[in-house]
Amino acid sequence: MSDILLKRDGAVLEIRFNRPAKKNAITNEMYGVMADAIEAAENDAEVRAILFTAEGDFFSAGNDLMDFAAQSSGAFSGPRHVGRFLETMLHAQKPIVAAVAGNGVGVGTTMLLHCDLVYIAEAAKLTTPFIDLGLVPENASSMTIVDRLGHARAFAMLGLGEPLFGRDAAAFGLANAALPAAEVEPKARAAAQALAKKPAEALRLTKGLMRDRETLLAQLRHEGEIFAERLKSPEAAAAFAAFLGRK
Ligand code: COA
Repeated sequence: MSDILLKRDGAVLEIRFNRPAKKNAITNEMYGVMADAIEAAENDAEVRAILFTAEGDFFSAGNDLMDFAAQSSGAFSGPRHVGRFLETMLHAQKPIVAAVAGNGVGVGTTMLLHCDLVYIAEAAKLTTPFIDLGLVPENASSMTIVDRLGHARAFAMLGLGEPLFGRDAAAFGLANAALPAAEVEPKARAAAQALAKKPAEALRLTKGLMRDRETLLAQLRHEGEIFAERLKSPEAAAAFAAFLGRK
């Protein structure tokens, strides 16, 4: 069974994290599958909306730390797909909805800032532990989280590593609604289906007007350069080793 499940439900493309035993941590291969799927959806007139959802009790534990450790030590070779995934999401013209029934960590949180509608479980925790990993924020989150939450709350998340609970995410404007976990996916699916019935061109233009893609892309790439250096830092290497050796 693939770690990413792709399904068409009418005019909605559903992208489902399917690696629950690893809390849906995202590997290089998974990024590649998702980037390909979004690129194909963007070029397919029959797809009118994209829905992210997840199997199991976690939305996503973020980037796979084994992959980070391999990239940190230089053991990784071959194309890295994460950048393509992030930029494909940033540029997506079709509306993206997220069903977040469980916790999000790292990119499992920052990707939500590039979704157009987010439905989240009241008790879900969103965290961005980049500093504890010796890293810096990615995916333009040093800008998007500040824009959404204001500097004080954003710094509690990014600086202290404090979690943002689903109910606060909705109250502070990072999510549309906080719901009991079982209601999250049906609500998100209904919203994606409703978007898929809207006049597609008007929706595309409206999404474009609401997003300053150029500024977001510049921030994402600037963060990406620093992030790539930090991956090789002694602080990051020590954090990855601590996680991998903790059991
Ligand atoms: N990368 C790789 N494997 C991960 C992972 C990640 N990001 N997150 C969880 N896993 C794996 C664990 O190693 C474990 O695998 P194992 O059963 O083979 O030992 C399995 O998923 C379950 O995780 P576990 O830690 O036992 O569950 P938990 O409920 O106690 O804790 C987390 C869940 C997500 C809080 C914890 O696993 C964690 O902190 N993960 C790292 C998150 C992270 O830093 N992501 C990168 C952000 S940039």
